[in-house]
Amino acid sequence: MIIDGKLISKQIKEEIAEEVKQIIKNGGRKPNLAVILVGEDGGSQSYVSYKIKACKFVGFESTTILLPKTVSESELMAEVEGLNNNDGIDGFIVQLPLPKHIDENKIIEAISPQKDVDGFHPINVGRMSVGLPAYISATPLGITELLKRYKIETSGKHCVVLGRSNIVGKPMATLMSRKGYPGNSTVTICHSRTENLKTITQTADILIVAMGVPDFVSADMVKDGAVVIDVGTTRVRSDKTKSGWKLKGDVKYNEVAPKCSYITPVPGGVGPMTIASLLKNTLLAAKNEIF
Ligand code: GUN
Repeated sequence: MIIDGKLISKQIKEEIAEEVKQIIKNGGRKPNLAVILVGEDGGSQSYVSYKIKACKFVGFESTTILLPKTVSESELMAEVEGLNNNDGIDGFIVQLPLPKHIDENKIIEAISPQKDVDGFHPINVGRMSVGLPAYISATPLGITELLKRYKIETSGKHCVVLGRSNIVGKPMATLMSRKGYPGNSTVTICHSRTENLKTITQTADILIVAMGVPDFVSADMVKDGAVVIDVGTTRVRSDKTKSGWKLKGDVKYNEVAPKCSYITPVPGGVGPMTIASLLKNTLLAAKNEIF
């Protein structure tokens, strides 16, 4: 069965839009998400434009701050401070990656945890891992929402996560191993240095692939009946699309899909859920529900 992230994300956005209407009816103001975008990376520009469009769809205000790729670390820090102290902004994100001369960790640590709707600040990561209310990174949060809405059993299952990034792999492993649903899985994290990778993936009931390597997972690596979640979104050139680009997943969809009980396509799987989760986090921030 194909997991339709586009459909589920639309449902979530409609639920959020309904809540925004209620907030306004009760005399509140529109939630406001700010995005800082540094430089002109094509991928980042399109992700940010999707986020802004999604804000409009649900009735949020959005604020975009564009900075040149030559911006200094201290100038960027000053922008972050400005948003931390701006009462009109409920939550904000700094789109990654940042230019090499800027220390990403330093910038992330400068974001007020109360406004960190990306869930990247160590305070939010730590709170999540001990089970306290926290902003949770949007991609892993979106994946748990897909598992929930498709009522996929996770308890006692072997969940293999390919990739150990701070944004996806690590928080994903934490969420799948926590008590509760979705969770209670036995989790293995694999990465570029893992030996006998195929032997491990073949035992996965749930395989979550976030390597950023197109076509990494082939059919012989997947167990019959597995649930496969493909987080890969590598932009490759294409003469078949209007933009001249297309997104490629980490899984060889055509050969893997027939073996799966559930699988997410690329595009239309995890990607739209990431944006829906960011909106959800922003709504939580507007309602001060986490801190
Ligand atoms: N770059 C790739 N994914 C993300 C994300 O979820 N948030 C931010 N800020 N940057 C990203």
